Amino acid sequence: MSKSVRFWNRIAEKYAQSPIKDMKGYEATLARVRAHLTPDDHLLELGCGSGSTAVMLAGDAGRITATDYAGEMVAIGQRKAAEAGVENVTFLQADPFDPVLEPGAYDVVMGMNFYHLLDDMSAGLTRSVELVKPGGYVIAKTPCLGDAPFFKRLMLKTIVGVLQLVGKAPSVGFVTGDTVEAQMKAAGLEIVERSVTDGMVPRDFIIARRPA
Ligand SMILES: C[S@@+](CC[C@H](N)C(=O)[O-])C[C@H]1O[C@@H](n2cnc3c(N)ncnc32)[C@H](O)[C@@H]1O
Repeated sequence: MSKSVRFWNRIAEKYAQSPIKDMKGYEATLARVRAHLTPDDHLLELGCGSGSTAVMLAGDAGRITATDYAGEMVAIGQRKAAEAGVENVTFLQADPFDPVLEPGAYDVVMGMNFYHLLDDMSAGLTRSVELVKPGGYVIAKTPCLGDAPFFKRLMLKTIVGVLQLVGKAPSVGFVTGDTVEAQMKAAGLEIVERSVTDGMVPRDFIIARRPA
């Protein structure tokens, strides 16, 4: 098991308990996702964490497959769905390249606070395009540490580097929003909308479409 998987497993309960910091931004993101979901859609969530978003969106999609490589996160997601009485969300312990995920089978593929964690973000976006149906959407909300102002970026790099040394931070890319957009386009997607929310770290929200 990789260091990053161990990290996410270890912090899963704490992650599940922590309140959402920017509730207004989160609600706005959910509203944009809902605008691209129909009641028959099959939504695939990558890196679903403790499952809150999948449970929140359960009423807006036909079904949701919520995936994460950290088994502890998946277990919490299953518990949350059961507590909420949600029956159309299936949680799977899987990374995006797991062969259990079927190419071209999903109407929407979504990664929230996820793609910057991949060792190869470009490969993760290309795989997302492979998984989504032609005409379907790939949605990414990404903390763009590479867009933080120079001194903040330097400070964050130092802090993250030290935390990684002691096993208290996962592998994380200092990506920019422009890189996410460029890699989505290079993967064959058309950008439908893009917005940025400010905070400690700017977050880029992009909805893109696989041409039909
Ligand atoms: C920052 S959390 C985000 C969770 C959730 N999407 C949210 O917005 O709250 C990132 C999640 O991605 C998962 N993750 C990171 N890299 C992954 C990979 N390569 N494959 C599958 N899951 C991954 C972690 O286990 C963690 O649960």
